[in-house]
Amino acid sequence: MPLDYQPILLPNPGRTTAVALTEYEQRGGYDGLRNALRKKPEDVTTMVKDAGLKGRGGAGFPTGMKWSFVPKGPGPKYLVVNADESEPGTFKDRDLMEIEPHTLIEGIAIGSYAIGCELAFVYIRGEYTVAGDRLRDAVDEAKKAGLLGAPSKLTRADGTPFSLDIVVFLGAGAYICGEETALIESLEGNRAMPRSRPPFPAVAGLYMKPTVVNNVETLANVPYILAKGVDAYKAIGNPPNNTGPKIYCLSGHVKRPGNYELPLGKVTLRQFIEEYGGGTPSGRPVKGVLPAGVSAPIIPAANLDAVLDYDGIKGAGSMLGSASFIVMDDSVDMLWAATRMVEFFRHESCGKCTPCREGTMWLEKTLYRMMEGKGKESDLETLQFVSKQIAGNTLCALGDFATSPVTSSIKHYRDDYLAHLVRIEKKSDKKGDKAAE
Ligand SMILES: Cc1cc2nc3c(=O)[nH]c(=O)nc-3n(C[C@H](O)[C@H](O)[C@H](O)COP(=O)(O)O)c2cc1C
Ligand code: SF4
Repeated sequence: MPLDYQPILLPNPGRTTAVALTEYEQRGGYDGLRNALRKKPEDVTTMVKDAGLKGRGGAGFPTGMKWSFVPKGPGPKYLVVNADESEPGTFKDRDLMEIEPHTLIEGIAIGSYAIGCELAFVYIRGEYTVAGDRLRDAVDEAKKAGLLGAPSKLTRADGTPFSLDIVVFLGAGAYICGEETALIESLEGNRAMPRSRPPFPAVAGLYMKPTVVNNVETLANVPYILAKGVDAYKAIGNPPNNTGPKIYCLSGHVKRPGNYELPLGKVTLRQFIEEYGGGTPSGRPVKGVLPAGVSAPIIPAANLDAVLDYDGIKGAGSMLGSASFIVMDDSVDMLWAATRMVEFFRHESCGKCTPCREGTMWLEKTLYRMMEGKGKESDLETLQFVSKQIAGNTLCALGDFATSPVTSSIKHYRDDYLAHLVRIEKKSDKKGDKAAE
């Protein structure tokens, strides 16, 4: 039985047009911002901290804590929205921007007030032209209504005018632009290559000024916290570690792919696939599920009773990440699937660090050889060895991401690899055989 739950991030499932300002305000839109402006900025940050909101961009870092790292002194500070959404199988931020642009704008305004930012940026992947146009229109609407602007018509708790402008920027398209420091480089007009840390963006980010980078869905959660309060937010989900709503993207071998907003921690992976996704179109059993696009270990069918939240997916040996579930039925050859994923990472590696640049190439070469039936059993050890040389030894997490399809598929589906092996008779063995004759 699907849950009895009223979505708050995407309250109009199936809608294709953008919610305009009047409609948004009729349902209580911008109440969260008005409440925030009655409080001190640091109290807004404390509320977001107490609500337990974790970043929805992948790493799950606590949002209020991230905001609290921004130095309080004078000088420019920036809020940058990560709307790059390049992870395969991930399309939640797109719906949020296309259908509910004002929820995001309100979240940006609250976050900007909390950290002292007067100029925010939304970095949208280049292909999302509709989202970009709708967001620009919504920013204009909010400016005309006096909710945004330098200054706006709203007043802060200290009696000074609230001032915020939002720049909507479309990227040129590369997976690495989603990594927050590469995104900052790209926004500055440079080639998108991750920076080494420290310093972290909260201290030296965009134009080397204190910067918070937050995902679209993360910020879309914020208005509800400020409008309805911490307790109401925590009542959704599975506190203390898994509070609030989550949009799960569902794709692959399911009858009903799409975005599903549910409270964290209330359904299992099996329920999600069967009751929401309608099961596999072929009726064949599920063989495995990728829970975070292609960036986290594959969850085998034996773990389908894992609960959909940060702890549940971790307990199943993977990571919730962007919560983009790609379902694979038992027709899928996992060597083929791992090869396809490694091809993606090899292509998207920015090349700045050697373990990722060279390692992804060696993984791909070895997998290609196995796919061609020219592999040997020792290639499995080679793949694991190369993965070990990459993971944890790179500037950004793309290196780790590239290894997880390989290591997890070898762990759970070794037989799929073995099925591709062709026994190569060694010349020395042949000689030995002849001598024995
Ligand atoms: C290779 C790579 C790609 C990423 N792509 C995205 C992305 O498309 N969208 C996103 O929000 N975060 C992405 N991230 C995570 C960001 O670096 C960052 O953690 C996130 O934007 C922080 O926002 P949050 O705290 O609100 O989750 C990516 C990280 C890596 C390493
Ligand atoms: S891990 Fe890969 S993508 Fe990340 S900085 Fe290094 S080379 Fe670039």
